[in-house]
Amino acid sequence: MTSLLLTGSAELVTNDPGVGDGSPLGVLPDGAWVVEGGNVVWVGSRTEAPAADVAHDLAGRAVIPGFVDSHSHLVFAGDRAAEFTARMSGQPYSAGGIRSTVESTRAAGDELLAANLARLVTELTRQGTTTVEVKSGYGLTVIDEARCLALARQLTPETTYLGAHVVPDEYADDPAAYIDLVTGPMLDACAPYARWVDVFCEHGAFDVDAARAVLVAGRAMGLTPRIHANQLGPGPGVQLACEIGAASADHCTYLSDADVDALASADVVATLLPGVEFSTRSPYPDARRLLAAGVTVALATDCNPGSCYTTSIPLCIALAVREMAMTPAEALWSATMGGARALLRDDIGRLGVGSRADFAVLDAPSYVHLAYRPGVPLVHAVWRAGHRVV
Ligand code: NIG
Ligand code: FE
Repeated sequence: MTSLLLTGSAELVTNDPGVGDGSPLGVLPDGAWVVEGGNVVWVGSRTEAPAADVAHDLAGRAVIPGFVDSHSHLVFAGDRAAEFTARMSGQPYSAGGIRSTVESTRAAGDELLAANLARLVTELTRQGTTTVEVKSGYGLTVIDEARCLALARQLTPETTYLGAHVVPDEYADDPAAYIDLVTGPMLDACAPYARWVDVFCEHGAFDVDAARAVLVAGRAMGLTPRIHANQLGPGPGVQLACEIGAASADHCTYLSDADVDALASADVVATLLPGVEFSTRSPYPDARRLLAAGVTVALATDCNPGSCYTTSIPLCIALAVREMAMTPAEALWSATMGGARALLRDDIGRLGVGSRADFAVLDAPSYVHLAYRPGVPLVHAVWRAGHRVV
């Protein structure tokens, strides 16, 4: 196996508090590391680096673990630019817009869906993301949900069954029958392609009893629960996540004190999606309140054609810092280790012995520039499993 030594980083963010500056980011100035067989096999200071078969110099750039985007909806057709324009003219966002993307997605062939998905994955990879979770949720028939997940599965192991995104029009008069479908034949068809089960627990989507039924049925088929909760208003979603031990409760925009306490004691990750508040002109979640309570916070894009059509984790980091008062260090941790925690993964989101060699090289001397230079394409190179992919 060929070994590769990387040197010349201005700073290396490891997310290992045991190395470097001792902070949660474990920043090593002039850090070096060795990659073998797709994994990191050594990390330390350049002056102590062992010999390797091949050496690669990073010419004074900062290096960070690849971003882990733990929440996206990338399998769809069409866009909703007109809905965005209406929103920017004062219309509120509502769950109902999902149905227009369902219509376009059902009408699209696999080739078109696959091409759109591949385009978005290329886009997010260029911006430093090396792991992405992808949900279904725009098919809402047995065949359409299964084909959307099968397409996503070709690009990532982190696939999520979201048949319970919204009740489709044809079940408007009998939502209970739709829950039977989602927890029965649709789940059977989708489970082979999914790792996770999700539900949109919100006014206009699914109430807490329906949401519980979906997550419990998914778990019985081997899927692990996660949930869209407390996005558009206060609600029972976060408490449900804690009650059933979901990996993550996502959005968390409207939380009571009891919700925050429950997240902390149940050790459920709160995944914040500030691109959504930006793109729907809504109040941001209170990240400081969650962090003060000891809740693990992840940051993700939620990329979808309705509430937030960005693939950019650097944008989310800038928003988290500017609009949610996270420090640049907290925001970077949440977009790397936080995302890994939300996906129950310990091989990604960090750079240490045994981790996968997934990292982004920045055209900047420090990771702080991700928030300090918003909107600037700072990602110079991206490596996944030891191979340069950008
Ligand atoms: O996470 N909240 C539910 N689902 C997506 C939005 C989907 C859409 O509007 O198409 C979200 O924001
Ligand atoms: Fe979402």
